[in-house]
Amino acid sequence: SSISNSIANSSYSVNTRTRTRKMVKAVSLGDPLLAEDQDEAVVVPSDHLSQQALVPSLRDYLEMYKASIQDPGRFWSEIASQFHWERKWDPDHVFSHNLDVTKSQVHIQWFKGGITNISYNCLDRIVESGGGDKIALFWEANDPGSDASLTYKQLLSRVCQLSNYLKDIGVKKGDAVVVYLPMLMELPITMLACARIGAVHSVVFAGFSAESLAQRIIDCKPKLVITCNAVKRGSKIIHLKDIVDAALLLSAQTNVSVDRCLVFENEAAMKREPTKWQEGRDIWWQDVIPEYPTHCEVEWVDAEDPLFLLYTSGSTGKPKGVLHTTGGYMVYTAITFKYAFDYKPTDIYWCTADCGWITGHSYVTYGPLLNGASVVVFEGSPNYPDSGRCWDIVDKYKVTIFYTAPTLYVTRYSRKSLRILGSVGEPINPSAWRWFYNVVGDSRCPISDTWWQTETGGFMITPLPGAWPQKPGSATFPFFGVQPVIVDEKGVEIEGECSGYLCVKSSWPGAFRTLYGDHERYETTYFKPFPGYYFTGDGCRRDKDGYYWLTGRVDDVINVSGHRIGTAEVESALVSHPQCAEAAVVGVEHEVKGQAIYAFVTLVEGVPYTEDLRKSLILTVRKQIGAFAAPDKIHWAPGLPKTRSGKIMRRILRKIASRQLNELGDTSTLAEPNIVDQLIALADC
Ligand code: PRX
Repeated sequence: SSISNSIANSSYSVNTRTRTRKMVKAVSLGDPLLAEDQDEAVVVPSDHLSQQALVPSLRDYLEMYKASIQDPGRFWSEIASQFHWERKWDPDHVFSHNLDVTKSQVHIQWFKGGITNISYNCLDRIVESGGGDKIALFWEANDPGSDASLTYKQLLSRVCQLSNYLKDIGVKKGDAVVVYLPMLMELPITMLACARIGAVHSVVFAGFSAESLAQRIIDCKPKLVITCNAVKRGSKIIHLKDIVDAALLLSAQTNVSVDRCLVFENEAAMKREPTKWQEGRDIWWQDVIPEYPTHCEVEWVDAEDPLFLLYTSGSTGKPKGVLHTTGGYMVYTAITFKYAFDYKPTDIYWCTADCGWITGHSYVTYGPLLNGASVVVFEGSPNYPDSGRCWDIVDKYKVTIFYTAPTLYVTRYSRKSLRILGSVGEPINPSAWRWFYNVVGDSRCPISDTWWQTETGGFMITPLPGAWPQKPGSATFPFFGVQPVIVDEKGVEIEGECSGYLCVKSSWPGAFRTLYGDHERYETTYFKPFPGYYFTGDGCRRDKDGYYWLTGRVDDVINVSGHRIGTAEVESALVSHPQCAEAAVVGVEHEVKGQAIYAFVTLVEGVPYTEDLRKSLILTVRKQIGAFAAPDKIHWAPGLPKTRSGKIMRRILRKIASRQLNELGDTSTLAEPNIVDQLIALADC
């Protein structure tokens, strides 16, 4: 296709150009990178790195990339054949899709008719091929000094015991299971146990509030909820079971009742005694699971049977249940993991993400285990007991591949084991990139700045270590099979060097198939804005060398430390406060978190704005969504800038929030233009 040629051609020129310019701007791995000019600064992989890499050069990549675009069926069939299938898919219909909403319903299918099981492929397949005694999970507790590990064989046994229990209580293929667990080994165990019997897991990040958990339970009506009594986060103890109790009470009020709650006793945080208990519904994990046999037959499922639901924020209030299916997701997470991290069987891999987010699904659990990797699972937070914890863990386990969000700090410690670094979740600015590269990686390790989304299942635009020169802050080039396009406001594809809206043409195996229970919203949100394409919601620039630079969300979604938060969700939490009349939330740049939440609020008439009220507004958001969504700033507003038709002018609010007061633009169309001056005057109250 023309777009792949244009990527291909522009990329070809990168190699020669950057290599000849190396003396001026580029540095080789091994030298500190200091250059400031972002489009020109490149880091050329060393020959040593390239020679050992799975994809040793740009030429090799282009060959594979072209093959993946020209004949996707063949390309992906070959990769899929590395896995175990009870029955193969129809070779004449490896995939089928329609992305053009103007033609007919949007649908995406990969390997339809193929019968497999992802849990079998993660565990049994590895054990049967001799990897049973290799460590699958290294678990590091919140408190230093406490840890555990499981080999593939042991992990398989644990998974089977839970699968047997789930079957025993009547959980069947297609049933939903809500999981509200912190980063204990029981979290990946639960995901794999559900997948083993064809049940659909929906992991809810254990930082979400009871209200948010209830919302998700009401939407997917699970057969049971799996949680633990409490967790230690830093020096704080959080009573997760209380939160689940409150959520189940709220769900019951909407006539969604859950019969069973399986509770893991997390002794390190709290003994079981003080836990509130509902006899008949609640059951201790430790009382039942160890009694079950360590062998459990796999439930074979169709490639297109659902694997999991994961709720994510959109630009309207209600979270979206992103649905991923089995076969395509399996193939895609496995292969993106392998190539983007240049995975070798001797690697020790650590991804700091929580399994409550997509990164934890694809790159803590499924992707690495499908490759038979040894994975570090960390329960705690990177700066507890101090900011050296992360590097302590890297040293302790001799981590070679370290994948994290760009908001981390480093101090002492050797970090010598590191080989590859990965970054995800938000645009990494060039100075953060250089810090990650120079300080964390000692100017030695390539960085995979992986751009992707909950919806995409796996990496979409990412460097392949060793294959081509990197530019700090650019996610570089598309993964195999991915055709990114940049379109203008009218949806017209722009070629060459440009900026615009990032879309994807054609489907890839890891793509989500629908929003649970709302296929119409799936089409409206992702496929209607630019017919014929999947719209990512991100802005993007392509430079003269064909490198992609992600510039952040273009919709009403805020990205705080890599956590996606819908402005509408925060607004509806704020207006639920009895003294708040109206709220408008925008994102502002934040040095550490990428973006911070900035909320304009108007109050019910006659209510004075006080420090107590400010705190209580923030508390409302914490309670309704979770602490991670608490606004950094509440800006008291006597009124909001609106058009005559009543639409809030967020563009103006964004400028006020970021104090770009000479860039307010045209305010003459406002119903009450003097509101703007009042807001500016109140900015630092
Ligand atoms: O805006 C992009 C940003 O995170 C969004 C996806 O968020 P979520 O579905 O929660 O998944 C996060 C982990 C994949 C994207 O629309 N984003 C993610 N990775 C990057 C990024 N922005 C810039 N560079 C990245 N590497």
